[in-house]
Amino acid sequence: MTRIPELTILQPADKEHIEIPRTSEDELAVGKKRLYIESYGCQMNFADSEIVAAVMRNAGFATTSVAEEADVIFLNTCAIRDNAEQKVRNRLKHLIGLKRLKPELLVGMLGCMAERLKTKLLEEEKVVDIVAGPDAYRDIPKLVEEAESGQKAVNVFLSREETYADISPIRLNSNGVTAFVSIMRGCDNMCSFCVVPYTRGRERSRDPHSIVREAQDLFDRGYREVTLLGQNVDSYKWLGAEGVEPGEQPPMPQAPGPRSITFAGLLELVAQIHPDLRVRFSTSHPKDITDDVLHTIARYDNICNYIHLPAQSGNSRVLKLMNRTYDRPWYIGKIDRIREILGDDCGISTDMISGFCSETEAEHQESLSLMDYVQYDYAYMFSYSERPGTLAAKKYADDIPEDVKKRRLNEIIACQLAHSAKRNQRHIGQVQRVLIEGPSKRSNDFLSGRNDQNKMVVFPKGNHQKGQYVNVLVTDCTSATLRGEVV
Ligand code: SAH
Ligand code: SF4
Ligand code: F3S
Repeated sequence: MTRIPELTILQPADKEHIEIPRTSEDELAVGKKRLYIESYGCQMNFADSEIVAAVMRNAGFATTSVAEEADVIFLNTCAIRDNAEQKVRNRLKHLIGLKRLKPELLVGMLGCMAERLKTKLLEEEKVVDIVAGPDAYRDIPKLVEEAESGQKAVNVFLSREETYADISPIRLNSNGVTAFVSIMRGCDNMCSFCVVPYTRGRERSRDPHSIVREAQDLFDRGYREVTLLGQNVDSYKWLGAEGVEPGEQPPMPQAPGPRSITFAGLLELVAQIHPDLRVRFSTSHPKDITDDVLHTIARYDNICNYIHLPAQSGNSRVLKLMNRTYDRPWYIGKIDRIREILGDDCGISTDMISGFCSETEAEHQESLSLMDYVQYDYAYMFSYSERPGTLAAKKYADDIPEDVKKRRLNEIIACQLAHSAKRNQRHIGQVQRVLIEGPSKRSNDFLSGRNDQNKMVVFPKGNHQKGQYVNVLVTDCTSATLRGEVV
């Protein structure tokens, strides 16, 4: 997924019809070399691109949102499913055309696909000059220099410590209201289907002081929402013993020990920055989310009532094969606990995979029945895509035919659409507090923003502006959006 519109690079005649807003002061910088960066995959990749932009700015590069203007083009890639990689390969085909017009252009592959394929990428895709894995971003200026001198440049070293804690990201394509803040990197879970532990390395948590500082700075600059990011935020843990400059270390009153801090403690610290700073987080792992976290959400109005708690499957045998380390009753127990502590109003979403190795029809039905039980507000739904090198690829046959995977996926999607519509209808007649993010996608006469539960709300513009909180009376909805007017 990319937030930057696909550019019709090979048809320059169309160019004048593409209007791309110049988003940063960088765009106006003259005489500097320019970097264009495009992000695919999860929010963490989008956040990483902002780190890369900061590293490159230090090296004298300005960013541009127009690929044709760039001296260096980076694709920050995803490897989670085969189609994510195919999308990037198609994009590379377009870049071949661009490089023909501008032979000195450098093309770099960053992120998870770069890490997965390493030097193989250089053999397979001749247009690529630079390959940098997720922990090698500090090294990028050096890699660019090497590439400028005509060599191919690669760094795919994975680190146990790197968190880029000291780098202030440059917000790309930002609405100026909401921002991502990475709180950890990597993943130590070994879900058998998943490539992330191989592409992002071991789990490590970022120094809480640098997280709070970044969030405070965003608030001071007018941002009103931060989303704390990690593959498994509930296992965030900072022991604080190493790598801390003594003068910088104020005591952490909320932490369980004098220097250690858990995710619940971190959430609280960020929530205390200001009541007008909304705090979201993603992703929670059902095995790790604690009552402590749920109680912290309940205590603070500005911690959003929304939890992304991916189930993947509703069947205990499949969950075991997936190595998710919980079963159906455990997952249901967590949902019940969320409802007990945060009430029925708490938004809950999931990720579901259809057609995992050896999944039977009856087991697939259990995914649907789990969805019926939870009544998710939203879901990200996928059909299983075998990833080379994962435990599942080594141990289990990818034996569900493609058409069966697709049919099951369609059933999952249909089920979710009904639940989303139902969950959205509950809001009709209610007044929702909405943080305005900007004009609605469809019309400049309307604004849009999200409510506490992460649902998009669209309403007539009036005199309101992005960054403001407004109370919206919901009058109508679809399965995707709530509509209403400010009261
Ligand atoms: N850390 C998060 C997930 C990150 S990956 C978690 O544990 O929930 C995002 C989602 O992609 C996963 O939740 C899963 O649903 C999906 N996914 C991962 N690997 C996949 C694969 N091989 N095939 C299909 N979907 C996959
Ligand atoms: Fe992948 Fe599992 Fe880690 Fe999520 S928790 S990133 S699905 S290995
Ligand atoms: Fe993709 Fe890597 Fe994120 S594989 S989903 S970009 S962690």
